[in-house]
Amino acid sequence: MKPVQLEVQALTDAMERAMVRKDLATAKHHSRVAEVCLRIGKHLSLSDAELALLELSALLHDIGKLGVDDAILKSSQALNQGQWEQMRAHAEIGFRLLRGFEELPGVAEIVHAHHERWDGAGYPRRLKGAETPLLARVIAVADAFDAMVHGRPYRAAVSEALAAQEIMQHRGTQFDPDVVDAFVAGLNPVGLPVSVHATLWHGLMT
Ligand SMILES: [Fe+2]
Repeated sequence: MKPVQLEVQALTDAMERAMVRKDLATAKHHSRVAEVCLRIGKHLSLSDAELALLELSALLHDIGKLGVDDAILKSSQALNQGQWEQMRAHAEIGFRLLRGFEELPGVAEIVHAHHERWDGAGYPRRLKGAETPLLARVIAVADAFDAMVHGRPYRAAVSEALAAQEIMQHRGTQFDPDVVDAFVAGLNPVGLPVSVHATLWHGLMT
């Protein structure tokens, strides 16, 4: 490995350890999201450099949660408005944490934008369509899928098939249509039965 790669590895390892200490579920979530992102990225024909940037950004996308109170992160109750505002601040906190690292060009901007929506109703800047970096649009789909499949302290988990259907229902509103299509194309490696895959494709066409 080149010295710069070693520094980046040391940095991501340190951040991973900090996240594990803070909240184990969050750390596991990052690696699962990175895996789904890579499947989507391959179906979008991203270059090796783009896939590497996507993986790194996915691994770090919720790093800003290091700055959110444990009581909010681990709450089993529905969050009130003030608590949601604190939770949402993690996108901005992550951006500010990462933007100083010259070894990670582009990562801060992607992390900043991972909760934006295709229709402009996301946060923190309400970016619309392609104003959001493509790799952040990929993370948005993979993040939502993982959050549904593995649940949250305040929300029960659902099956992969149901989560995928939910993603498809928000194709063109919450999510970039091309990214959703690439996600669906990569579903079989996630382990869905072929029949479910076919049903989802049918849903896409109607
Ligand atoms: Fe997030």
